[in-house]
Amino acid sequence: EKGTYPHYMLKEIDEQPIVLRKIIQEYQGEKGGFAIDASIRKAMKNADRIYIVAAGTSFHAGLAGKVLLEKLANIPVEVHVASEFSYNMPLLSEKPLFIFISQSGETADSRAVLVKVKELGYPALTITNVPGSTLSREADYTLHLHAGPEIAVASTKAYTAQIAVLAILAADTANEKGRKLPFDIMQELAIAANAMDVLTDHKEEMEKLAKNYLHSARNAFFIGRGSDYYVSLEGALKLKEISYIQAEGFAGGELKHGTIALIEKGTPVIALVTQEHVNYSIRSNVQEVVARGANAMVISMKGLEQTADSFVIPKVQQLLTPLISVIPLQLLAYYAALYRGNDVDKPRNLAKSVTVE
Ligand code: M6R
Repeated sequence: EKGTYPHYMLKEIDEQPIVLRKIIQEYQGEKGGFAIDASIRKAMKNADRIYIVAAGTSFHAGLAGKVLLEKLANIPVEVHVASEFSYNMPLLSEKPLFIFISQSGETADSRAVLVKVKELGYPALTITNVPGSTLSREADYTLHLHAGPEIAVASTKAYTAQIAVLAILAADTANEKGRKLPFDIMQELAIAANAMDVLTDHKEEMEKLAKNYLHSARNAFFIGRGSDYYVSLEGALKLKEISYIQAEGFAGGELKHGTIALIEKGTPVIALVTQEHVNYSIRSNVQEVVARGANAMVISMKGLEQTADSFVIPKVQQLLTPLISVIPLQLLAYYAALYRGNDVDKPRNLAKSVTVE
């Protein structure tokens, strides 16, 4: 039930810190370890490459997860859109492990890949919010998101839950391989949960920014570098699906290779700045678009902020920033859709789970 909330989407955005704490609790093992089944641990350890297959927001969570798995567990990871995978199958490594990420566990495009993968005899793990779902039953292993029912068509809490579970899986695999982690993942996730509280408590600022930047916008661009680029893709998808504003996410450095031609006076460009090593380069991309008349909204992380930035998010571990930076983007999409009088929870032409290929 949505209780006093006007929309499920807003309720689900607010639930993110609670979900993150629930995940920490569910996956906390004994003696500082993680509660992950030994069979999953073995499959992760045996794999020479991981293939993440997913659609939409879950695909975007997979991109953020790739960074965590490669950096922490030192396993090469490829992330594929499910609907492309079957027709455009990459060359597989010798010992692949497939990870299907799906909130509903019912996405037909992902299932088609799972069927094929099982025919080929490869191991598969499903990360889902619905443990009894088709993708969960048909895979060898399942990890549960513990996000509680997600009703709004626009996925929010499932995305952050997916990234958190992938972070824990990456840390567990690192442990298993005897790799020393540079930080305590559960502690950093707890810090991220507190940062989420701060963001969900300051919605009025995002409401104002949505009004100023997106009220009458025809299109909008999201830019970032590194994991900020992946979150930009998610921010653009959120805005498209509920506000119907044409939006695209770009790697900051790619703008000058074509897209910058679209920047006109007043075009909204939302830039994410949470990665220290690209702070300078993404800020020069912002200057490039501002010089062409863009209305730039810079969302930066504490410690990297400049006085003219539109919004500053609390500081979290650099590898976990997608958990936090996505929240202002979810709120921007929500308020932009509200201003435009759209049906926030049930956008046109969309269904909560896409059960046709
Ligand atoms: O249930 P799934 O995670 O497999 O769904 C995948 C996509 O259909 C889903 O994330 C979709 O993109 C959302 N509407 C995005 O908000």
